[in-house]
Order: sequence, then structure tokens, then C-alpha cells
Amino acid sequence: MAESIAEAVSRRRTFAIISHPDAGKTTLTEKLLLFGGAIQLAGEVKAKKDRIQTRSDWMKIERERGISVVTSVMTFEYDDTVFNLLDTPGHEDFADDTYRTLTAVDAAVMVIDAAKGIEPRTLKLFEVCRLRDIPIITFVNKMDRESRDPFEILDEVEHKLALDCAPVTWPIGRSKTFCGTYHLATNEVRGADTQERLTKVNDPEMASHRLPENERDAFIEETTLAIEACKPFDRKAFLEGHLTPVFFGSALRNFGVRDLINALSDFAPPPRAQVADIRTVEATDDKMTAFVFKIQANMDPNHRDRIAFVRVCSGKLERGMKARLSRTGKQMGLTAPQFFFASQRQLADTAFAGDVVGIPNHGTLRIGDTLTEGEPLVFQGVPNFAPEILRRVRLEDAMKAKKLKEALQQMAEEGVVQLFSPDDGAPAIVGVVGALQLDVLKERLQAEYGLPVSFEMSRFSVCRWISADSPAELEKFISAHRGDIARDLDGDPVFMAQDGFSLRYESERYPAIKMVAIKEYH
Ligand code: G4P
Repeated sequence: MAESIAEAVSRRRTFAIISHPDAGKTTLTEKLLLFGGAIQLAGEVKAKKDRIQTRSDWMKIERERGISVVTSVMTFEYDDTVFNLLDTPGHEDFADDTYRTLTAVDAAVMVIDAAKGIEPRTLKLFEVCRLRDIPIITFVNKMDRESRDPFEILDEVEHKLALDCAPVTWPIGRSKTFCGTYHLATNEVRGADTQERLTKVNDPEMASHRLPENERDAFIEETTLAIEACKPFDRKAFLEGHLTPVFFGSALRNFGVRDLINALSDFAPPPRAQVADIRTVEATDDKMTAFVFKIQANMDPNHRDRIAFVRVCSGKLERGMKARLSRTGKQMGLTAPQFFFASQRQLADTAFAGDVVGIPNHGTLRIGDTLTEGEPLVFQGVPNFAPEILRRVRLEDAMKAKKLKEALQQMAEEGVVQLFSPDDGAPAIVGVVGALQLDVLKERLQAEYGLPVSFEMSRFSVCRWISADSPAELEKFISAHRGDIARDLDGDPVFMAQDGFSLRYESERYPAIKMVAIKEYH
């Protein structure tokens, strides 16, 4: 019998892993995928990261710098739960891509290096999760190495993130003596996950027998204190983003990964309702709705394709169905939606809320687009960040200006850069959040369009989207600043300023004008 929408939704978990580079995100991803049977051998994800296959020329940047630029999704199933793990670029220059990806998840796993605690990037990503009320499960990794005291780590999470901690498991031993986890509520002791061993003990004292004698008393003391002094897990507080359940382990040595995957199944929420302009869409609504949070070109060197990653928000997405693209009002056929696994993709016959599918297209879909079975609604909340670097693109061959214009438009639609066309007819300005994005743009313009370019400083260094309650006020501002106004890809006006000082000055002079650094796609 076909699965009902409600059943399908209830067994889906869509999440991302947030961490500072080197905390173990790749290793953990690989171990999670192993559980789901999505990969046969540990090492595939890592190998991919190290070699970063020759998917296309512009990926050279990834190979040379050993960073992961591409956001991808991996679907796997474990114990009847369907997991969609959305990967995010590790480098902060691609932060806007990461932030958009976080709009498509319902929960996040925060990986902390046990020796380092909360690092800057973890903190930043956590803040984005908090803005969106995304519940967080914490995994304290690398317990097999020299680490900080677990209480110190919990304390740091509580203070730096203002997030209550509820340790669910406790590490048995540290570094060389680390040999498993002890479940503080159920008294279960788990060794390395590969050995499938789970033993029930009566109390911490019994669990401590796994340790050398001189460490036992300390373990009993710690676990007793953890049970008495720490907050117990409270699902409501977790779902509201006030409390995080904490797990200890070692992704490399396979400790604690099963605890984590069980927590994702048991605690993490099924696909959440999504806010659209005219109403809130429940995951179990029967009509299909979805939004695009990422576009990726050239995933496969054999097919020069462009994939739009969409998150299904309700109903059932079926291969061959027609969907309405809200931005244009036009219908489009979803003839070849795809699921992504660790190393392959597969045609998706049906997808439900929480699922992420790739839709091949030739430029029809843009970031932030909404697809529906007919209803003209538009999802809110996929963010666009005001760029921190603005540059003019200098073309070596002036004859190719038209081609450059088209290429830049494409790149902007994919979210590689933002494009601003000045009202005074001056050449377009590209904007990025991080400098590496410019390198990607340069490589791709050369590789895909045969356009050698360089970048020139622009006289502007900051920009803000502008609006006003009164159209007349907005018009007045625009007329008074004609040379400093540009339009973004949607035609929305942007005020460009030389520096932060003149931005503040103008904003004080024109209090009726709203200047914002984050625009939500619409
Ligand atoms: P990232 O994606 O968050 O950047 O981290 P990644 O998984 O690549 O891990 C960073 C380094 O930490 C890797 O070592 C990895 O093997 C190691 N690591 C991850 N989890 C654990 C753990 O639980 N225990 C220990 N001891 N190490 C861990 P590397 O030397 O950079 O790479 P490799 O050459 O060893 O693969």
C-alpha cells in the first residue's frame, strides 16, 4: 500500500552538521552514511574531500586549496527513518551558501572538538540556527584524544551560546582509556559502534569496571554529578532551541555515532511547517510545495547541467508532475527530479516534505523560487546577504561584453555572486561575501565561457537594499542619489556607499528610508 503523506513525513529528518573546520564533520558524515548503508567503505567521503574529483575545471580551486565549496545533500535510511543530510561548505567565504542551506533543515548537529570547545565558526553558524529556531544536538568529538573536562565543555556551551545542556551520554574514560559511552538515563553502556555491543548496567559503578582502577572513582563521581546537577533532557525546550542534548564520542573510532543517529530519530523534529506569504504550509498538507535553496552547475562533467536543489515542504512531489513556478506564474514539468546519495544520484519517483531533490534545468529556476502544485504562494526566508566586497569586472576582450553580461546573470542566478546594475548605466558591479567567491567566478568565466576577466576596485565598498513605506519617499531618495543606486537581479533598488560612514550619514539624513543588509528572496 502506498505510504500516506503523514506517515512519510513522520519518518523524515532533515539536518545539517555545523562545526569549525577540522572538528570532524567529514569523518562524522562518513560514519553516519555507513550506518545508512549509503556507502560501503569508510573513506569515500574523505577521499572525495581530499581528491575532490575532477568534476569541472573551476573545482581546481577546491583541489588546490583543499576546501569544500560545494553544498550537497545526502540521503540515507536507517531503522525506518529517512535522513536528509545537507552538507555545507566549510570555508567562511561561502557563508551565504551555508546560511541558505540552513533554511532548508529542521535540525542541526553541532560538532565540537573536545580539546578546543566552541570555536568561532561554530559560534557563527550556531547564531544562524538560533535566528531560525533550529534545534541543535551536540556531539563532542575526539574523546579518544587529549580533551578538556566534559563539565568545562558543557559550561562553555551554556555560557558562550546561552544554551542549556542536557548530557545524555557520558564518556567512559578519556584519550587512551576512552572506551565507550554511558547513557545517564537508561544505564546503557555502548562500546565501539562497529561491534554492535550494548550492555545494560545497574549504575555508574558497574559501568566504571571498564576503566582502569585508578579512573573508576572519578567516573562515578562525574556521572553522579552530571545526573544531579545537569538539566534533564526536555524535548520541548530542545525543539524551541533553548536546550541541547549532548553526546560524547569519537567519529574516527566509531564511538557515540549510534547514540547520535538514535537521537536524530527520537528527538529531532519531523519536517516543520514553512511560512509563505499567504499562509503557513504544514508538511502534511496534500498539495505539493517546495522552494529552491541552492543552484549548482556542472555537477557532472559529462552533462553540462544545472541542478536546482529544492526542499519539498508539503504534499508529494512525483516524477513527471507539473508545478507552478511562483516567480513567473508558468508551469514547469518535473521530468527528472533526483535524489543524491554518497556517490551516486538516482531518479526520484516520489519525494515528501523534508526531502531534498535536485531538479535539472537550464536556467529556469533561481535561488528562492517557490514551486507549487498550483497555489500561487511564495515561501519566505531564503536570505540574501549584502556583499562585503564590491568589484567591477574588467574584460580583456571588449567585444565580448554581451557574453559577459549573460554569463554574470547566470552566475548571479546560481548564487555564485550578486550582480548590481547601476541606474546611471555604468558597468555592472559584482558583490560577494568572501574573496574566494571572486576566484570561483574568475575560474568559471574562463572555463565555461572562455572569458578571461580581472577585477577592479569600485568606488563603493558597502551596499544596502532600500525601501520605504511611502513610494514617494523612496523615489525622492533615489533621485537624490542617482549615481549610487543600482538594481539587483530582481530589480530591487540598492544603495551603494563609499564606506560605512557615508552609509550611516545618509541613513540619518533620510530616516524614512529602510536600509537592510539581509534581503529575503521573494
Ligand atoms: P572537518 O570535516 O570538520 O574539517 O574534519 P575532518 O572530518 O576532516 O577531521 C579533521 C581531522 O580530525 C582529520 O585528521 C580526522 O581524521 C580527525 N578526526 C576526526 N574525528 C576524529 C576523532 O574522533 N578522533 C581523532 N583522534 N581524530 C579525529 P587529519 O589528520 O586532518 O586527516 P587524516 O589525514 O587523518 O584523514
